[in-house]
Amino acid sequence: MRKPVIAGNWKMHKTISEGFKFIDDIKENVKDTDVEVMLFVPYTMLKSMKDYTDGTNIIIGAQNMHFEENGAYTGEISPLMLKDINVKNTLVGHSERREYFNETDETVNKKILKALEHDIDVILCVGEKLEERENNIEKDVVKKQIIKAFENVSAKMMNKIVIAYEPIWAIGTGKTASSEDANEMISFIRSEIQNLYDDEISEEIRILYGGSVKPTNVEELMNQDDIDGGLVGGASLKADQFIELVNF
Ligand code: 13P
Repeated sequence: MRKPVIAGNWKMHKTISEGFKFIDDIKENVKDTDVEVMLFVPYTMLKSMKDYTDGTNIIIGAQNMHFEENGAYTGEISPLMLKDINVKNTLVGHSERREYFNETDETVNKKILKALEHDIDVILCVGEKLEERENNIEKDVVKKQIIKAFENVSAKMMNKIVIAYEPIWAIGTGKTASSEDANEMISFIRSEIQNLYDDEISEEIRILYGGSVKPTNVEELMNQDDIDGGLVGGASLKADQFIELVNF
């Protein structure tokens, strides 16, 4: 049985005091869930949010991480720095990082390898653009992202990976992929993991959907066989909505 995940990605939103208020508002309402609850927050509040959620079931993670331990990389944050503040989860390869900050399949792969070397769990984000779906090449695109991302990643490390399928045309647009389309792609990703690894790993790996997930569509998405959770932007910023998502 795969444990469901509801992960909020706050992107470039919220100050520390807003973050604390959010935790105060949700923690009693998400504490008895069987869902893994995660929040990926801006760097400036990572340590304070990590400390503030100590003793709760809320996991705090970073939205990005560099692939070197240190060096002349102005503005970047390394795995050692995350470990220094006890943060053991990161997103890698979010489409906004790919689109605006030159993240490539190669850097995604380097980041995954480095995170695993430092015992940091990864949510790898993949997904196609609108024109790629319109040209019916969405599976080729996602397959390529997956194959490159897991180059040299050993089977024994795969339990530290979650994959999030986020079709770019559904992010922040209010346009959700239909639950059937989302499930079809996620089941395709699962079969690619089976090709790369084996039956057991493909059965155990958790694969999330992301793109305009909200309280009104979460249940239908979660009812699909292959969808194990949601990576949520907009609706994760409001405490009441986030509580509803966790208790879908
Ligand atoms: P929205 O939920 O705002 O569409 O964002 C999805 C996303 O990018 C999560 O990483």
